[in-house]
Amino acid sequence: MLKQEIINNFVSPNGTNRSEVDTLVRQFSAQLFDFLTNSVETSPLPEFHNVDSAFFQIPVAELSIQEIKDKLEVIYKSSMNAANPRYLGHMDSIPSIYSILGDYIASALNNNMLSLEMSPLLTQLENNLMSQFANLFGLPSGSGGVMLSGGTLANLQALVVARNNKLKIKDGNVYSLLQQPVVFTSDVAHVSVVKSCMLMGIGSSNVVKVKSNQNAQMCVDDLILKIDEQIKLGNIPFAIVATAGTTITGSIDPLNEIANIAKRFNLWFHVDAIYGGALIFSVEHKNLLNGIELADSISFNPQKWLYVAKTCSMVLFRDFSGMVDNFRITAPYMKDQEHFINLGEITVQGSKYAEVLKLWLSLLGLGISGYQQLILHCYVLRDVFVDKAACRKYLELATNPDTNVICFRIMNSDADQCDLLNEQLQSYLLRQCGFFVSMPKFKGQNWLRVVLINPFITDEIIDELFTKIDWFVQNSN
Ligand SMILES: Cc1ncc(COP(=O)(O)O)c(C=O)c1O
Repeated sequence: MLKQEIINNFVSPNGTNRSEVDTLVRQFSAQLFDFLTNSVETSPLPEFHNVDSAFFQIPVAELSIQEIKDKLEVIYKSSMNAANPRYLGHMDSIPSIYSILGDYIASALNNNMLSLEMSPLLTQLENNLMSQFANLFGLPSGSGGVMLSGGTLANLQALVVARNNKLKIKDGNVYSLLQQPVVFTSDVAHVSVVKSCMLMGIGSSNVVKVKSNQNAQMCVDDLILKIDEQIKLGNIPFAIVATAGTTITGSIDPLNEIANIAKRFNLWFHVDAIYGGALIFSVEHKNLLNGIELADSISFNPQKWLYVAKTCSMVLFRDFSGMVDNFRITAPYMKDQEHFINLGEITVQGSKYAEVLKLWLSLLGLGISGYQQLILHCYVLRDVFVDKAACRKYLELATNPDTNVICFRIMNSDADQCDLLNEQLQSYLLRQCGFFVSMPKFKGQNWLRVVLINPFITDEIIDELFTKIDWFVQNSN
């Protein structure tokens, strides 16, 4: 017979420990909300400090609730704090409350999205929502997709399908090819394209980097040049990856033109819309995605601009059944299904979390119009930010921002001095002013970057940031 303390680690199916479990959950929930509702008081990005290894020690016997809460208190205080509206550095949104609940419920249900038999309705939900998203992106009927844990996996699956489709090697292997396959993407595309090619046996060095223009968008003339070059070298181009919302500057490639080039050379056209895909919900800026409806595949992360808790990603295919033909591996322990394909057979994951629940609840809680307003709010903030930067002669913007991702820096004619000065500014903003802006390398130099995504960012907060920057510039020499 198990001891009650052990049993109380689980919810009894006949409710015998309901009040104990309820009390436990309430205590942890209260601690969590104490933190979340005061997160403006905590640094947006706590400094790394080495915690004594005893803190991480696996205990021999169970700890008390208080001891566990004490440990969690340390975790809260040391966590990246994107809830603070002065956390501006990365594409990390705060999760909508419904997406937090979706995560909580999905964990409690603990369904396995591997197969229809184990997750009958949730599989249908994922299948149905993915078709709706494909339609929102303008893909035709017959399109659809699957959900994955993060954008890197979404890009990987898209490129695997592209490779198998164009090179006809689903049941073969890359080594049987007489020529080297190559993929094209811009020199500012996300590293997951290179990572995918490394994993797929294409080789990371066979991702051909196309030049980007002054707005960090792919140069189509250079794309054509590079495709021609690769053909002359005897290599086999098979895919182009365009980006709708680059990681560093939020730039959107000229999708229509790239789609035409892909068609002309018979290449797979994938759009990494991991960030910018959220614009499907924007009335004012959806046109920036024009051409995405011509894509063979699209990857998109609701965990970013749709405010869904991490991880939550999807990959959509123009021809869903074509994707299945080029990807599906059946497993003997999954029952054959008549109406749906087991998701575990058609995604890079096997056992699969019901990420769909938090996405769906978030969509139910906000609706299309809620998302329209959130995205519009971000664009209003972008305009306020850009205007303030433009009236300061000592600042420059890296690009004319397409989205709410803005890269800027203090100008200096000496490149090393410029890097140093901006590094010092970033540190001053974090250590002394409670603002986190990130500092990516862009075209070889340090830039400061803000992602104006938190719904609690106000004009006043942006004003305060610029006042701090002004002070730094006046007092540094
Ligand atoms: C444009 C782009 N593509 C792909 C990714 C990879 O997504 P993930 O970090 O979810 O794997 C990112 C991440 O920021 C991204 O910005």
